[in-house]
Amino acid sequence: MNIVTRLFCSSLGKKFVMAATGMLLFLFVVAHLVGNLQIFLGREAINRYGHFLQSNPELIWPARIGLIVLVVLHIWSAVRLTMENRAARPVAYANYNPTVASYASRTMMWSGLIVTAFIIYHLLHFTAQTPAVNFTGRDFKTLHETMPDASMRHDVYGMMVAGFSNVGVSIWYMAAMALLCMHLSHGVGAMFQSLGWKKLPYSLFLNKFSIVAAWLIFLGYISIPLSILFGFVK
Ligand code: HEM
Repeated sequence: MNIVTRLFCSSLGKKFVMAATGMLLFLFVVAHLVGNLQIFLGREAINRYGHFLQSNPELIWPARIGLIVLVVLHIWSAVRLTMENRAARPVAYANYNPTVASYASRTMMWSGLIVTAFIIYHLLHFTAQTPAVNFTGRDFKTLHETMPDASMRHDVYGMMVAGFSNVGVSIWYMAAMALLCMHLSHGVGAMFQSLGWKKLPYSLFLNKFSIVAAWLIFLGYISIPLSILFGFVK
């Protein structure tokens, strides 16, 4: 068995795959948040950013393929590890009293599944711009901004304002963000553990870091639909 096969077969290897893919996905979530927060700088900033991404297929397609591979490996390792854990304890605890394990850690599978469902919805909503899922009666593909030289570019700002003006869609986004950040608050800590970085004296700091980072990411993401719903961004 070569080293790659051994890595994928052992529990330790799967934990490593889950931690490494989780770390890269976490970095994507932070980078995507920073990109999205440009909505607060105005239409020009976020539309320029959206246009930059769309007009550089040599950047965006490898990133898309990379993200898909990361998500698939992350889910695969999570499912396999859960199955191995269940097989190791075929009879459930007679008296299951989870005093140590947090709520976030016990619901990782559920929060992960719902976040995956959210990502599928989100891609239909803002990337494929499928009219049937935006519940506004508008086609986001027709939203364009006319530039001074009379060329056109996609109006990402207008699309976000239109998208989040639907209260139901905004609530669904915010609920998904709450679950994503609950998933991260445990996941980031577990990732440090699996990578062997959680050694004293940093362990307390790393636990706090994962909770603070999850809260900041949650507040950052929900600030966008909330600002649109309350008319601060229009
Ligand atoms: C309030 C929260 C969010 C907002 C406002 C938002 C906004 C957007 C927008 C506007 C796009 C389309 C960019 C473009 O094509 O011009 C997009 C794409 C995307 N978003 Fe988000 N996003 C949010 C949350 C998330 C989260 C939490 C994730 C992942 C966990 C995520 C993953 C993605 C992915 C994978 C794409 C596709 C990028 C591509 O291949 O084109 N988004 N998002």
